[in-house]
Order: sequence, then structure tokens, then C-alpha cells
Amino acid sequence: MFEKYNSSLNSMIFNDPSIKQSICAEAKVGISNNLLLSGSNGVGKSLIAGLLVTAANPNANPADCFLDGSNLCEQEIKNALNMLLMNFGSPAVLVIDEVDRMGTRELNMFQKLIDGFTNKNVNSCKFILTTNRPVALSDALRSRLKTYPIAGLTDLQCLPMVASEFEKYGVLLTDCDITELLTTCYEPNATLLDMRKVEEIVKEVVFSMANVII
Ligand SMILES: Nc1ncnc2c1ncn2[C@@H]1O[C@H](COP(=O)(O)OP(=O)(O)OP(=O)(O)O)[C@@H](O)[C@H]1O
Ligand SMILES: [Mg+2]
Repeated sequence: MFEKYNSSLNSMIFNDPSIKQSICAEAKVGISNNLLLSGSNGVGKSLIAGLLVTAANPNANPADCFLDGSNLCEQEIKNALNMLLMNFGSPAVLVIDEVDRMGTRELNMFQKLIDGFTNKNVNSCKFILTTNRPVALSDALRSRLKTYPIAGLTDLQCLPMVASEFEKYGVLLTDCDITELLTTCYEPNATLLDMRKVEEIVKEVVFSMANVII
């Protein structure tokens, strides 16, 4: 969904254009830092991580570049990096999704792994970490990462994306109708949209309209 807006970093709508600029610059120079993408649910952290991985190494299969932080240990990280280097060549860019789910001991070992790479000038391995809870990571680990806070979109920023998706399916709604729909796409007490909810509501509406037409 939203293919026109989420298939490349350049076409994505970001809440903060300066963050978009910096992330696009990272993609252009081939990721020179270990990155931390932080932000609440459904704001596009994993999406951005995937697009960065592809930009850094177009040969790599994005699914092979993703590790889930839950119960992850150092050896699994090393194995994944070796597999990426062997199968897709350099650089190996590994995403650790929801990195805050790693245990404290494992996070400390991960930090040492990063230091080892830095000390030995290993530039062929880079990490992109995502988290909803950056505060769960130690200051020491965070100081080794370049953090990009990713914020959700406002209804106004999201409007062109949703309108073009409805248009694609021949569903005609006014901006007012769409804004009304988007009111259901916020986490409790949030002021910015959860894109996962936006996708769901758009699918629901398209599906119900298609049923009506059929
Ligand atoms: N700016 C955007 N433009 C288009 N689609 C987006 C955008 N941000 C997110 N999405 C879509 O919303 C869905 C959720 O995005 P994603 O999984 O990247 O969020 P996340 O920040 O990783 O969430 P979580 O913290 O729950 O893991 C995806 O299907 C993604 O394609
Ligand atoms: Mg995610």
C-alpha cells in the first residue's frame, strides 16, 4: 500500500524534512555510521531501515538483513553478518529491529562488537537499530550510534498519500471525508498518525466500496 510514497526514501513523506534530508544523505554515502531510528509505533522505522539497507547494498535480500531484537545474542549477529558478506558482498548492513528487546548482557556484548569494528577500522559492517524505547538503551550504547528520531505524520501531511491511494482504486472521497477517517488512526493521546492504522482503514474502505460495486 502507498507504493508511490514508500518504495524509496526520496518519495517518502517525513514529518521533519531535515531528518529526511539527513537520512537520504546517509543512503547516498552508503551509511557511514551505525544508526538508531527511534519513534513510536507505525511511524515507518522498519520501512526506512529496509530502504537504507537496499540503498547501501542493492544485491542484498532485505529479509536476510533483518534480525528481531527479542532473545538475540552476539553469535547470531556475527553469523548474520558473515552470511550477508558471503552471499551479497560488502557492505553488510544489518538491521536489529526493536533492539530494546535484547537483554542487558547481550546489549553490552553488542556494544563491544561495535567497538571492536571501530578499533579495527572495519567499515564493511554497519548496523541500523530501531526502537520505540530509546531510553531502554544505555547512554554508552547510544553514544556510539547516530540517532534519527522519526515522528509520525499529521493528517495534513498524510492526506495526499491517502487520497492518491483511494484514487488508485476509484474511490472518491473529499479531503474532509479523509480527514474524518484519519481521526481513528491515532494511538490514545497521540497527536501524530500511526501509519499501520492508516493502511488498515484505507484497506477497509477500499474493500467495502469494492463490495458495493460488485
Ligand atoms: N511515511 C510513510 N509513507 C508510507 N507508508 C508508511 C510510512 N510510514 C509507515 N508506512 C507504512 O506503515 C506501516 C508501518 O510502518 P513500519 O512497520 O515501518 O513502522 P515502525 O515504526 O517500524 O512500527 P513499530 O514500532 O510498530 O515496529 C508499513 O506498512 C509502512 O509501509
Ligand atoms: Mg518496526
